[in-house]
Amino acid sequence: MKEIQVSELSVNPIHRIAKDWMLVTAGTKARGYNTMTASWGHLGSIWGHGGGLPTSVIFVRPQRYTKEFVDREDIYTLCFFPAEHKQALGYLGSHSGRDEDKIAKTDLTPVFEEDYTYFAEADLVLVCRKLYQAPIVEEGFVDSSILEDCYPARDLHDMYIGEIIRAFVAD
Ligand SMILES: Cc1cc2nc3c(=O)[nH]c(=O)nc-3n(C[C@H](O)[C@H](O)[C@H](O)COP(=O)(O)O)c2cc1C
Repeated sequence: MKEIQVSELSVNPIHRIAKDWMLVTAGTKARGYNTMTASWGHLGSIWGHGGGLPTSVIFVRPQRYTKEFVDREDIYTLCFFPAEHKQALGYLGSHSGRDEDKIAKTDLTPVFEEDYTYFAEADLVLVCRKLYQAPIVEEGFVDSSILEDCYPARDLHDMYIGEIIRAFVAD
């Protein structure tokens, strides 16, 4: 992978997140790590000055094992993959790291850095430093049909906003 300037990123976030899906990963080899598939999220900018900080927003339900790692760590990564790895993303999005070494059951190879982990097969990796965390709350829904549709069990996501501090693309 080669590092590029975050400002050079060229990505259609709606397509890449919602259609291709991504892995949200937090933790390290030393402290332990976990990953899960996500198809909800945003890429954009907020805060800072002169255009705002480049940021990602992710949404993690309370019952996800990955949440324990995202909560504990200062950094999470977002990994995007070529189409041939979609099956692996399907597996990682339907099995929990609480129950098994699910990553070992896929064709993905973790790459361990001191403060974060990503996957060698990714064609785009965004390293994000947590800036903000807040629960989605029932009272916030202007369109209450979303609450009924997406949260019948009222397991509302926590939202995390992270500054994109590094970006890597496939060579
Ligand atoms: C396509 C797809 C998209 C998903 N998007 C999200 C998401 O945005 N937020 C979330 O909390 N869970 C999402 N999930 C569910 C988690 O990936 C899934 O529950 C996973 O097994 C959690 O693993 P963990 O317990 O090891 O963290 C998605 C699953 C799939 C298959």
